[in-house]
Amino acid sequence: MTAPTPLIAGNWKMNGGSASLSEAKAVAAGAGKGAARVALCPPATLIAQMAWALRDSSVLVGGQDCRAEASGAFTGDVAAEMLADAGAKLVILGHSERRAGYGESDALVAAKVEAALRARLEPIVCVGETLEQRKAGDALSVVTGQVRGSLPAALAGKPFAVAYEPVWAIGTGLTPTTAEIEETHRAIRATLAEMFGEAGRVVPILYGGSVKPSNAAEILHAAEVGGALVGGASLKAEDFLGIVDAL
Ligand code: 13P
Repeated sequence: MTAPTPLIAGNWKMNGGSASLSEAKAVAAGAGKGAARVALCPPATLIAQMAWALRDSSVLVGGQDCRAEASGAFTGDVAAEMLADAGAKLVILGHSERRAGYGESDALVAAKVEAALRARLEPIVCVGETLEQRKAGDALSVVTGQVRGSLPAALAGKPFAVAYEPVWAIGTGLTPTTAEIEETHRAIRATLAEMFGEAGRVVPILYGGSVKPSNAAEILHAAEVGGALVGGASLKAEDFLGIVDAL
């Protein structure tokens, strides 16, 4: 089996309006020459406009969450099919801001992954421990448990990615050591191989949490790191391209 194709994805979270499409276009103009696949996940309100603006580029557009159901009386929610209809190709699921802020369980994340697959979206499934869990020596068991619980068997043979995002590294400027990232990514890889056999060896395992141009090269070249999920530094094309170029 060949090595996973790296994926660098930007998660804009709840930031950006139509004026920010210029940043997306600047990303599209500067990306696409390297080895990585590049994606931007804007707020749901911007997906259709961004997909149209980037239609001639290699940069993919993704959502940040979806509902597990395909339709119904769920005020304010967005179905996977709706993301796909708007032009999304990927969707971030199980982000810690959703697990912590909305009580999303592994089982709910797995149901959302199945919804994404029905809509032919490529899921980026997030896992990661809190600082308390790391200090207690539980990081690997927490993360591998989330991998087992959040990835349904239906993913076998489908394209997907896992993003390791330590909760304490998100938006804090803190990052694990390279050795800690490698140890965790190796544990995720072993779990994927147990669950999906050979196919589990080509799933990109992204690192996320305070990735910026100045630390991207070291993180992206660490063992078993197959790309990055970037928050704050994805809002400015110059910073995001600095990360894409670090690969
Ligand atoms: P930051 O890059 O802002 O730390 O956010 C990471 C993240 O949560 C991406 O999903």
